[in-house]
Formats: sequence, C-alpha cells, structure tokens
Amino acid sequence: MTEAPSIQWWRDAVVYQIYPRSFQDTNGDGVGDLAGITSRMEYLSWLGVDALWLTPITDSPDDDFGYDVRNYYNVHPALGDLASLDRLLEAAGRCEIRVVLDIVPNHTSDRHAWFKDARASRESAHRDWYVWAGPSRDGSLPNNWLSVFGGPAWEHDAATGEFYLHQFLPSQPDLNWWNPQVRDEFDRILRFWFDRGVAGFRIDTANKVVKDSLLRDNPPVRPTDPLMQRRLGQRPAWTSSQSGVHEVWRRWRTVCREYEPERMLVGETWLFDLNEVARYYGADDELHMNFNFPFVYADFSAEALRGVVERTEAAFGGTRWPVWTASNHDVSRFPSRWCRGDRRRIGMALIMLLTLRGTPFLYYGDELGMTDVAVPSDRTADPLSRRMPGQHRGRDPERTPMLWRPGPGAGFTVADVEPWLPLGDSQVSVDQQRDDQASTLHLCRDLIRLRHESSDLRSGDYTSLDTPDGVWAYRRGTGTVVALNFRDGEVTVPGVRGRILIASERAHDGTDVAGLLRLGPAEAVVVISGQE
Ligand code: GLC
Repeated sequence: MTEAPSIQWWRDAVVYQIYPRSFQDTNGDGVGDLAGITSRMEYLSWLGVDALWLTPITDSPDDDFGYDVRNYYNVHPALGDLASLDRLLEAAGRCEIRVVLDIVPNHTSDRHAWFKDARASRESAHRDWYVWAGPSRDGSLPNNWLSVFGGPAWEHDAATGEFYLHQFLPSQPDLNWWNPQVRDEFDRILRFWFDRGVAGFRIDTANKVVKDSLLRDNPPVRPTDPLMQRRLGQRPAWTSSQSGVHEVWRRWRTVCREYEPERMLVGETWLFDLNEVARYYGADDELHMNFNFPFVYADFSAEALRGVVERTEAAFGGTRWPVWTASNHDVSRFPSRWCRGDRRRIGMALIMLLTLRGTPFLYYGDELGMTDVAVPSDRTADPLSRRMPGQHRGRDPERTPMLWRPGPGAGFTVADVEPWLPLGDSQVSVDQQRDDQASTLHLCRDLIRLRHESSDLRSGDYTSLDTPDGVWAYRRGTGTVVALNFRDGEVTVPGVRGRILIASERAHDGTDVAGLLRLGPAEAVVVISGQE
C-alpha cells in the first residue's frame, strides 16, 4: 500500500473467503484443516489479499457443515483446536493478513447443550432460548412459516408436546432473540473471539435472526416478488428484516467499538431489495458491510450488471460501503455460472470485481478461474440436494478442494486419500498458473496490486460512461476508466484516452489509447488517463 492503512481497513481490503474443509489437508484425512491454512499463508501473502473470511470453524456435528454449531467457544476437532487457530492468527498477522470468522446467531445444532436442555422439559433453564409454540386451534402447525431448506419451519417435539422453529434444517433450531440471555451470551461469544485477535465476523443469515414475536402468518407471494420467494410461495414478511434485528446489530456494533482497531461485521443479507440492504448499515451504527445478492444473481451481461451497480450506488449513497462478490459456498462458482468456463470472460469478471467501488470478496479458487465440479450422487455431502430433490442441485460443486498442483491429491491431500469431495481438473492448479505470467492467477494478483496502489480504485467515485450496447464502462475517481466488452465480437468505445494498465488480454497491457478504445471479444481493460 502506498498510504498508511486506514482505521477502516476493510474499505481498502481484498477479502478472500476460505471453506476450511477444502483448502489444505495436513493430517491426511481428506478434510482441510486450520494448520493447512496456516501452511498456505505464504501463497495468500503472495496473492496480496488483506483478510481471510473462514466459514464456520466452531464445533459442529456437520449436518450443515459448521452452520449447525454445537459449541460457540471451541474449534471443530476435524479442523484443529484453539491452539491451531492461535497459530493461524499469528502467521496471518506476520503477513499483515486479518482473519474474519463466521458466526451463526440464528440457530444452533440440535446437539448443542442449550437445545438438549431446552427440549428436556418446558421448565428447563434454556427452554425460552429457542422459539416454541403449541399447535394451532385445529391441532396443526403453529403458523404457515416455511423452512428455507424445504417443508414447514416447525418440528413437533413429542416429549414436551410443542413445536420448535427451524428456518433451516430440523436439526438447526432457531434461537429466540427476544430473550435477553441469548443477547448477553452472544456478546460473550463475540468478545471471546475478538480477544483472541479475530478481526471481525461474517454474520450468517443476518436478516432472519429476529422473528415476529406474535408468530403471524407470512402472506402469499405476489407475481413481482423475487424468484427465490416465488419458489417458496410466501413473502418473509414476519421472518426477515424485523425492526428488532436492527437493535441486535446496533448492540453488536457497540461491542466492536470496544476494540482497537474496531472489529468489523459483514452481514449475509439474503435480500433482493437494495434499499432494504442499505438499512443494515444503520446510521453507521449497524453492520459495516453487507453482501449484495442482487449482484451475485445478476445475469452476466453489461446491462444487468451495470443496472445492479447503479442501483446499489443510488441506494447506498456515498456513505454505505458496498461488497462485491461473485462466488461463495452457497452459489455456483462464477467461472461456471457467469462464464461457462471461458477464460476470457473469467478474466473480464475478475477485472470487474476488483475495480468496483467497494470491497471485493474472492472465494478460494476464484483467482484460478476454478469452476464447479460435478459431484456424483454417491459422493453427495450437502443435505440440500437430499432434502430438495429436483429443486436444489446441492452446494457440493462449489465446495470442492483447492487445486494446488497437478496429479493425485492435487496438493490438497496425500495422493492415496479420497478427499471429502471430488477434485476438479488439476490442470488449472496454482503451481501451473504461478509459472505462467499470462494466467488468470497472475491477472488476479496484478489486479489486487493495482487496487492497492490506486486511490482511484480504492476510494474514487463510480460513474457509468456512455457505451455501445453490450459494453459497460465506468470511471473510478478522476483518472481511471474500466471498460468491459460482453460481446462476442470486437467493439470500439469512443472518448477514452490514456494507457492500458491491465487488459484481460495481457498482450495489450501498456498500450496507449488515443480517443478510440478497441476491445476484442470478451475483453476488459483498466485505463489510466494520467489525470489521477
Ligand atoms: C447461510 C450459509 C449457508 C447455511 C445457511 C444456514 O445461508 O451461508 O451455507 O446453510 O446459512 O445456516
């Protein structure tokens, strides 16, 4: 970086999401572990990322791979222990890389001691930590709420004669955030990890944590509702974005402010209305950043992506800091979903991700252009493909192991061990791409470096420019222009002057542009006008 890092470090950061089970196995059990992440710190530092987000590392029976927490105060034994986390934090610190963990406040595992106690009797100390309700008058379910993972959101507990709420799997009972003891307990959990040196949290399902206390029925969908809701058949009017949830995030922000530098919170706001996402920033007293799912789910076209970015800019104004992410552990990887494996388009998508106004979140393997991997049905691990057959393809294809080098085990695990999910094509591995200056990996690394060096790219305003159809161009700050050609043919974009700093077609790096910018099919460039 050319300037002293700002206190709001996350604004200048490129964040790298790691699915720990799939990054690096060091004990030969086919599952990645924390020691594996530590052993790859040199690579992460070479790549240039500023922070890691690790999906849940806390103890879990793995019905939903860590998103069903059994103990919020300990590390999953398959991944290591608290000492291995400390070593990871120390190694990351030496490389000036921060570590953000994932916290799951909406629900626990049904094997968590709190829930075991809660279901033991109606009088248990932890009974009210969860959401219980009796049957409705006709003996049926308490209300019409549906689980995001299919079927009703209520499970009958025969022993105590009531139903408990689960917005995800039946083995993920929802916590009752109206109970002050739950709130106090989570303050303790936050401080426990912050005190160990964790830089912040990604908050799982941040819009759903507080539910309507009167348990009112959700209304039916309207034809104009987002596809995901139409599939479910109801609008989450009483199960998402309740005003009480904002109170919780304000409280968490106060905890973050007890630390120096302030700890960071990024919300998984699974919402399709950007004005609603904007509310999760509060008056700079709630979450520092929130994921942008309209962007994730946009078509890969100039019009669709420009539209989402412009709507985000309008909804967020100058004060709320956006997040740009294209892949994660719940959606098909962008090199498959957006780019159908086409190297040129993958390069274009990386140029876009790393040059927008806001923090880019890369998913491990994005930098290689790693695609989804077809997982045979007898290797399925994700419960979703079993619960929603025909409706959900499951999330295994985007969770397969990192490809470090060609050959058996791909450098992820030892050669004769079957990894927990099948390996993709190791021909796109880190080792091969590290030796090839024209590779996607080098493009990604060079873009990260450029972003660090350019105040235009880090903090300059975003302005859309006029372009021919199928092309999207924008100015960042005063002197940097990014142009992306989504067409299959060549185009020229008028009114661009300067020098190409980075082109997805690397042979064009350094080319001068004197008014007419020529872009090859699926080519993207970053141009500096010299006015910066
Ligand atoms: C979030 C996670 C997802 C998980 C779900 C339930 O959406 O990203 O992986 O299954 O919450 O915790």
